[in-house]
Amino acid sequence: MTNRFCEGDPAPYYEAHVFCCVNERPADHPRGCCKSRGAEKLRNYMKARAKELGLDALRINQSGCLDRCELGPTLVIYPEGIWYAMHSIEDAEEIIQRHLIKGERVARLMLQPEDKRPEDRRLLAGE
Ligand code: FES
Repeated sequence: MTNRFCEGDPAPYYEAHVFCCVNERPADHPRGCCKSRGAEKLRNYMKARAKELGLDALRINQSGCLDRCELGPTLVIYPEGIWYAMHSIEDAEEIIQRHLIKGERVARLMLQPEDKRPEDRRLLAGE
């Protein structure tokens, strides 16, 4: 993977920047969407908790589709580029407490690069 950091780059504006997909698709769309799986409530919870906890050095943004819809609701945290799928308020709270506050990882919720759409997995396997 290309190192995209260059000497002399300004310091990141936020210590952590969290993008939560809240994309919505029609109910019959084959890929589904994060919004129909509760993404908006979870994103709003994270944003409110970050404010409540005084986490001013990070930002919780809503985003459009991150293209890992089947695994959602998805979020990605930069600059580290770690992806999670969160399905409950408890998941969101654990990501806040462990990843964003303590700098740990929440392995049970983390998405790996090989976590792909079923059709992409078939293509990679040469089927
Ligand atoms: S709808 Fe959320 S990743 Fe595509």
